[in-house]
Amino acid sequence: MLSLRRLLLLSCLAVLVEAQQCRLVKWQDLVEGTASASHTITPTSTSAPTTQPSAVSNGTNTTVTPFKYGTDIIRGVNLGGWFVLEPWITPSIFENTNNTNIVDEYTFGQMQNASQALAVLQNHWDTWITEDDFQAIKAAGLNHVRIPLGYWSVPITSADTNYTTSVSPYIAGAWPYLLRALNWAKDNSVHVILDLHGAPGSQNGFDNSGRRINSPAWASDADSVPRTLDIMRFIAKEIGGMLDVIELLNEPAGYVSAIGNEIGTYWQEGYHVVREASGNGSQVMIGDAFLGVQNWENFLQYPQAEGVIMDYHEYQIFNYEQLAFSYSAHIDASCQQIPALTAYAKSNLVTIIGEWSTAITDCAQWLNGRGVGARWDGTWQPNQQVFGSCAGFTGSMSNFSTSYKTFLRQYWESQVQIGESIQGWVYWAWKAENADDWSYQKGLEGGWIPQDPTDRMYPDICGSTAGT
Ligand SMILES: *[C@@H]1O[C@H](CO)[C@@H](O)[C@H](O)[C@H]1NC(C)=O
Ligand SMILES: *[C@@H]1O[C@H](CO)[C@@H](O)[C@H](O)[C@H]1NC(C)=O
Ligand SMILES: *[C@@H]1O[C@H](CO)[C@@H](O)[C@H](O)[C@H]1NC(C)=O
Ligand SMILES: *[C@@H]1O[C@H](CO)[C@@H](O)[C@H](O)[C@H]1NC(C)=O
Ligand SMILES: *[C@@H]1O[C@H](CO)[C@@H](O)[C@H](O)[C@H]1NC(C)=O
Ligand SMILES: *[C@@H]1O[C@H](CO)[C@@H](O)[C@H](O)[C@H]1NC(C)=O
Ligand SMILES: *[C@@H]1O[C@H](CO)[C@@H](O)[C@H](O)[C@H]1NC(C)=O
Repeated sequence: MLSLRRLLLLSCLAVLVEAQQCRLVKWQDLVEGTASASHTITPTSTSAPTTQPSAVSNGTNTTVTPFKYGTDIIRGVNLGGWFVLEPWITPSIFENTNNTNIVDEYTFGQMQNASQALAVLQNHWDTWITEDDFQAIKAAGLNHVRIPLGYWSVPITSADTNYTTSVSPYIAGAWPYLLRALNWAKDNSVHVILDLHGAPGSQNGFDNSGRRINSPAWASDADSVPRTLDIMRFIAKEIGGMLDVIELLNEPAGYVSAIGNEIGTYWQEGYHVVREASGNGSQVMIGDAFLGVQNWENFLQYPQAEGVIMDYHEYQIFNYEQLAFSYSAHIDASCQQIPALTAYAKSNLVTIIGEWSTAITDCAQWLNGRGVGARWDGTWQPNQQVFGSCAGFTGSMSNFSTSYKTFLRQYWESQVQIGESIQGWVYWAWKAENADDWSYQKGLEGGWIPQDPTDRMYPDICGSTAGT
């Protein structure tokens, strides 16, 4: 694995990035609403972000070494809960609304005074992740961040699409904060995967798509898919020079028939849209859509397509069978994924595990949705297996036992082994308000995640299945 780590000299990638006309607008203009972000709501009574960058660069800073996808190992964290709210990551933001019907970012905009909601969001965008976090991520030996973004934050205009540009009731305005983050990434030599986490109509109905609904409508709406393609084109054209990877869509629910029928076509069309608009400068990430990577054999491969990455997500907590796993069964279940993934990556696409965590329960408050309990302790669905109390599994690590923390280290290493056996891994998530079992930052602090992600306490944790 260490043999795969290489220092690279720039070549054509740097030239491509430099060649791009990356139109970056000054931070101040965007915040004050004088730039082209036409549907950005300008707050009347709230102040602009307090911390402002001293300079905004424009994507032409070629001192950041291009990443060699397919050769070097992606090691990263997701900046979850920042530009797409998730009740379990920041429960305080939802509690502070005093309205239990506000369960996702859609209802957050719908059921509150818009200018008050914007003020809360601006404070959140300004403070949840700061440049200190980018420095800490770099210091932790990580080379990538994956940034989830909702479509409602992309300031597309009627010149860029023939479909509606209205995002109501979502609250727009995160774009300048995203641009600032891209500059922090650049200044700290951290590479960026920008991930469309919420599409019009919702691609999965999860609260983390912005909208918690039973029937995700992205593929069945008349215009949502072509509208999404226009949004991806806009992103690639406007900020492609600041992005290493553009992910076309997070976790589309391929098991919903309309979405399953649409997603392959969307990956193909989105690939061409993004590559063309970014001058082939951005890698394009697609996902397995919960269908398994084997469903995507011979898909968008070289020489038909260049610069494609497959994103696979792995959690072992969202059904009763997996919750019943012992500690060692969780580790085995991780290691057992390695052969199929390495086989796929070898003969198909560069493949990463773009979301995973060390959580082994669904106990984090509101993980299953605001107001929804957990399978683990029987506070959600009746007449199901109950595994025990949630105490000591989530919340503050001051309540974690030594043996639990030892396990978290082993489980972290076994899952990192999956990613190191293919082309990389991106942990979910960097931070959570009150769920340290999910927090990379707390893992570093608590010692179950090493300060150097190539350090191993259990180098043989996956035995002979570990791959290379
Ligand atoms: C980008 O920034 C550099 C350094 O500030 C400047 O020299 C260059 O002209 C800028 N390019 C564009 C296209 O704005
Ligand atoms: C929620 O209730 C608290 C306590 O009554 C109050 O201070 C706060 O302003 C309320 N928040 C909103 C958004 O109404
Ligand atoms: C929303 O809140 C602002 C500031 O508190 C206030 O000026 C405005 O009248 C409110 N709007 C509505 C529709 O209540
Ligand atoms: C909008 O429609 C017109 C007329 O069909 C077409 O020429 C144009 O390219 C379309 N614009 C976009 C952004 O798709
Ligand atoms: C380019 O990046 C380097 C290294 O991160 C940084 O020191 C420098 O200030 C950047 N230059 C510009 C013009 O942004
Ligand atoms: C992008 O790649 C395609 C396919 O290889 C090629 O046809 C096209 O000319 C390239 N575009 C640029 C701007 O390099
Ligand atoms: C520790 O766990 C107990 C029992 O669940 C809980 O009441 C307490 O708030 C927890 N302490 C922290 C710091 O999370």
